[in-house]
Amino acid sequence: MVVHLMFNPGYINRLKLSNRFVRSATAEFAANNTDGTIINEYLELYSNLAQGGIGLIIQGHLYVMDEGKAHDKMAGIANDNHITGLKEITQLVHNTQTGNAIAAQLNHGGLYSVSTKTASLQKDKEVKVMTEEDIENVIRGFQEASLRAKKAGYDAIQIHSAHGYLLSQFLSKKINHRNDGWGGSLENRAQLLLTIYQEIRSTLGSSFPILVKMNGSDDPFEGYSVEESSKVASWLAEKGLDALEISGMKSTRSIKTEEEGYFEATGRKIKQNIGDMPLILVGGHRSLVKIQQLRDDFADYISMSRPFIREPDLVKKFKEGKERADCISCNKCFKAPVIIQCMAKKSELGD
Ligand SMILES: Cc1cc2nc3c(=O)[nH]c(=O)nc-3n(C[C@H](O)[C@H](O)[C@H](O)COP(=O)(O)O)c2cc1C
Ligand code: SF4
Repeated sequence: MVVHLMFNPGYINRLKLSNRFVRSATAEFAANNTDGTIINEYLELYSNLAQGGIGLIIQGHLYVMDEGKAHDKMAGIANDNHITGLKEITQLVHNTQTGNAIAAQLNHGGLYSVSTKTASLQKDKEVKVMTEEDIENVIRGFQEASLRAKKAGYDAIQIHSAHGYLLSQFLSKKINHRNDGWGGSLENRAQLLLTIYQEIRSTLGSSFPILVKMNGSDDPFEGYSVEESSKVASWLAEKGLDALEISGMKSTRSIKTEEEGYFEATGRKIKQNIGDMPLILVGGHRSLVKIQQLRDDFADYISMSRPFIREPDLVKKFKEGKERADCISCNKCFKAPVIIQCMAKKSELGD
């Protein structure tokens, strides 16, 4: 049997991953709403994912400070009380015999957070404009959260700079109208992301794997083009970022077979600008043939979210000959009770 490159190990910094499949961050919608601590059901969810043999599991986004919480039942990494529960998840993943690694995704919701703080005033939404002190607090918030992630035993961290949350709000010229050092030119709009990356790098050291998830463009909103994201990606690569996951707006699209891999074009363009830095591509991957083609063409790693909600053991099944994930991208899982799970009826799914 010829084993495809997707099933070969890879390295992100010094972290060895057993294959090229990544579980893209997927919010669990299940933390205690009062304090952001995790509940027992998280352990079952991550145990199932760990047993499935995915190379790198990226946990659902964690708010780095209370004001950055983006939605109800989001888990936090905003104070030391959060570390105990998160540590249980990392230990469980590491104790599973499938060679899994797990990353913490760090986020601040910006205008979609409880604080509604963002770069600038908005036409269609009441927001609070961030002061210089707010920005300094956010940088410190990410930096302190990264240290908690290391203490909790994560193998890597991912800075969330996609999907319209705070860091992507600063990148977008549609949202960021500041005329100080944090707005205006692309260099200035990218300054918050770059500063946070550098602060975390000096906190965690050169050998700790640091990833970023970023929109390849904010299409259809016209605030951040693929030319701009390619430039930002090249700056991150120059500064020693370990891997970049490319996503986009309207990230959970309803796909038909012919639209598999809906961020392929932006990912392909960005890959030309980042040298050897590994690129992780997400967005509607469902069939092994397409996944292998993307890996053969340009993507170092392929990530998925919804297919692993339905089938946490999908990598094993692919290895055993399954050709296509069952997930039909209906997004009913957003309405799951207790914790994220597939809500599609068996009769609606693929074979
Ligand atoms: C229920 C759900 C929760 C999600 N939560 C996050 C998240 O916490 N952080 C993130 O970066 N993306 C999140 N996403 C987006 C996914 O990571 C992924 O980018 C998107 O679903 C496209 O991949 P897919 O077609 O494989 O699902 C979420 C998606 C779903 C369906
Ligand atoms: S509910 Fe729909 S989108 Fe979610 S995992 Fe199930 S099939 Fe996929």
